[in-house]
Amino acid sequence: MKGYMWPIQGHSAAKRLTWGSRQNHLSWAYMKMLREQSNWYEPHPINPYIEVYHFEDNLYGLFNQNCDGAGDVWEYLVVGPEKALLVDTAFGIGNVKGLVDELTGGKELIVVNTHIGPDHAYGNTRFDRVYCHELEAHKMRKRIQPNRYDYLFNEDGSFKWLAFDPKDIPEWREYELISCPNHTVFNLGGDYEVEMIWVPGHAEGHVMYLDKKRRRLFAGDVVCSDVINIGSGSRQAGMSNEAKYCTIEAVAGELRKLTERKEEFDYIFPGHFMVYLENHVLDKILAACDEILANPDGYDYQETRTMKDGTQRTTCYKYVRNFGAAISYNRDHGVYMPKENGGEAE
Ligand SMILES: [Fe+2]
Repeated sequence: MKGYMWPIQGHSAAKRLTWGSRQNHLSWAYMKMLREQSNWYEPHPINPYIEVYHFEDNLYGLFNQNCDGAGDVWEYLVVGPEKALLVDTAFGIGNVKGLVDELTGGKELIVVNTHIGPDHAYGNTRFDRVYCHELEAHKMRKRIQPNRYDYLFNEDGSFKWLAFDPKDIPEWREYELISCPNHTVFNLGGDYEVEMIWVPGHAEGHVMYLDKKRRRLFAGDVVCSDVINIGSGSRQAGMSNEAKYCTIEAVAGELRKLTERKEEFDYIFPGHFMVYLENHVLDKILAACDEILANPDGYDYQETRTMKDGTQRTTCYKYVRNFGAAISYNRDHGVYMPKENGGEAE
């Protein structure tokens, strides 16, 4: 075989055509073992695209191939005593609701998003009601539109990145999006509580979900064994409110608070790649953020890409020690929070 990211023989019926950025070797080898060899896998033919991994008695990882060229994505399903909680909705390909109902035995379902990435929230329309953080709701409403899947296709109607039956794209329907403040608690019955925790950086209203009963943290995209992309909202120099929180300074501020709560959880389940990360990996990510804040030019490497509009974009990468992941950031607009007058702090 030639090239990078050799095919993994997973169980999904969708077929990979093209990848975007290369993903790191450690994550790739881990996913090969998990998807080809682990006995966490359970067949559920009701949705041939989603690979179900039954990690613990009441916890399922729903593995979705990413419909665009970015990394494959996890949804998580927590089954509580009375209600179940679904973290993220991926692209919503195939009968997602039927699969979830099959796994929960038809329990009442609470659906929540970590943030608006197409790979995390485009499937929202499969459900009647979805909760997200209050800083993310306006972007959700703007981007989750009937035409949101158009970018997956070439002009001749073929798929660009991932091939599947186009009939399995959800039909457009309105759904209720509920905007929540930080620390909103979802009760799954009795004393089973899950808390929304705001940790921006990857997106303005990006949140994690803390399963307080079973001591797990569902971390979205701010913890990742590949690239932790901070500052994707800071690409415009305008320093909007969105850019304000898509900075290393913003993520470090909230991560610091979260590291002080490590005694409340043991394992971290991110939105992509490796799962069962130990809680103290947060200290390593925070340490890398602090190093960037102390010296934004102290990155380990950088990459310059030409964008569709012909402009060049340079991204800096800083490794997270003892983890193998790297934090990506924008040296000019993605490090410090802007001052109130719109300028950047020194
Ligand atoms: Fe993502």
